[in-house]
Amino acid sequence: MFGRAQGGEATIAGRPIAAILREAAVETPAYVYDVGAMQDEAHELKHAFGAQAHLVAYAVKANSAGAVMRALLDAGCGAEVGSLAELELALEVGVPPEAIIVNGVAKTDAELDAAVASGGVGVCAVQIDHLAEILRLDARAVALDRPARVSLRINPNVRADTHAGIATGHDEAKFGIALEEIGEAVELLRQSRQLLLVGLGIHIGSQLTRTNEYLEAARVLVDAATSYEAASGDRLELFNLGGGFGVDYGEGSCAPPAEFARDAARLFKERGLSTRLMVVEPGRALVASHGVLVASVLGHKTAGGRRYLLIDAGMNDLLRPALYGAHHRIEALEASSGAGQRWNVVGPVCESSCDFGTSMLPDPPPSHVVIRDAGAYGYSMASHYNGRPLPAEIFVARDGTIRVSRASDSARWLAERLAAG
Ligand SMILES: Cc1ncc(COP(=O)(O)O)c(C=O)c1O
Repeated sequence: MFGRAQGGEATIAGRPIAAILREAAVETPAYVYDVGAMQDEAHELKHAFGAQAHLVAYAVKANSAGAVMRALLDAGCGAEVGSLAELELALEVGVPPEAIIVNGVAKTDAELDAAVASGGVGVCAVQIDHLAEILRLDARAVALDRPARVSLRINPNVRADTHAGIATGHDEAKFGIALEEIGEAVELLRQSRQLLLVGLGIHIGSQLTRTNEYLEAARVLVDAATSYEAASGDRLELFNLGGGFGVDYGEGSCAPPAEFARDAARLFKERGLSTRLMVVEPGRALVASHGVLVASVLGHKTAGGRRYLLIDAGMNDLLRPALYGAHHRIEALEASSGAGQRWNVVGPVCESSCDFGTSMLPDPPPSHVVIRDAGAYGYSMASHYNGRPLPAEIFVARDGTIRVSRASDSARWLAERLAAG
């Protein structure tokens, strides 16, 4: 949890961030995470399901650090993965295959094979994204001589109230099977040789700040499942509502993850589904608020009447502002007194979109700043653009001890690029 000590300095997990950086002996930019608080988020979410059978499949793409994955596994989470590497990571960390959901619009044969071959009966479910994938997965499962547990990811045609780039449940989105195609999908599954339909799933998007659309889509899912069961006489094992629980990036008024779980559990109770496995796939909500990105201030300048604060973190370290126009609160690392100024905080990358927006910061400017709520889709989206190293990461455990993952080696990047071609 980010906070401020009595003296005014920025803290995480109750420890001054400046002291953590000194102890870690890393250069900025550096991510610092409160791993215990991430685990507490998972416990709180799981508690909110009450008597509802559930699986919290943590979306690995949000933050794939081993320390984070292990903490969430200890809290009873499974994993939602979107690539072969994420599947391998989840398995290596120790997530049981039966607690792993495999997603993806365009899965490779290698990804399908690994999902089918994991553990005794494969993963909990491979979420089928479109009709042709049924034929492809069946062919892979036949080749491997193994059954495959599948769930149909349906597109409920519900438009989430979020950024267009992360709204995935409306009818023009590239994700999922249209409602009117479910019958055909079921027929293809019936004709398949190795596929076993265990559930239906949805995921309407990310950074949902209210439960309305999530529940609307959940009702569509439950209705589709009820129709399927009535027509087939089969009983589905799982109902996957997807992730997307939002976090408060400073705007206020964001429904907490527990509210999504409680409301969904209430709906399931009304529909007599409390004993069926409700799967949710949260990423951001478990980790975003418990990570910060610390940057050094390199200077400042004025252009066109704007006061730019120049920092050493760029869009390659934290892409969300450039990608989605996201705004993260930025604060001074150390205690500061005196009047604040509105600064336009920008990074070093040669793109105008390497811009973290405006924040009130002391004048004269601080030596370091903290970019808040950077625990999700931060490091996991980081790149070497402009030949920049990947940032360091510091993991603060519940007892205050730290583990450090150092910034990537620039010399390696240089050698690899020189050798390319
Ligand atoms: C299928 C699926 N599930 C879960 C998630 C996690 O979303 P969030 O981090 O918003 O909870 C995503 C995000 O892209 C996703 O595509």
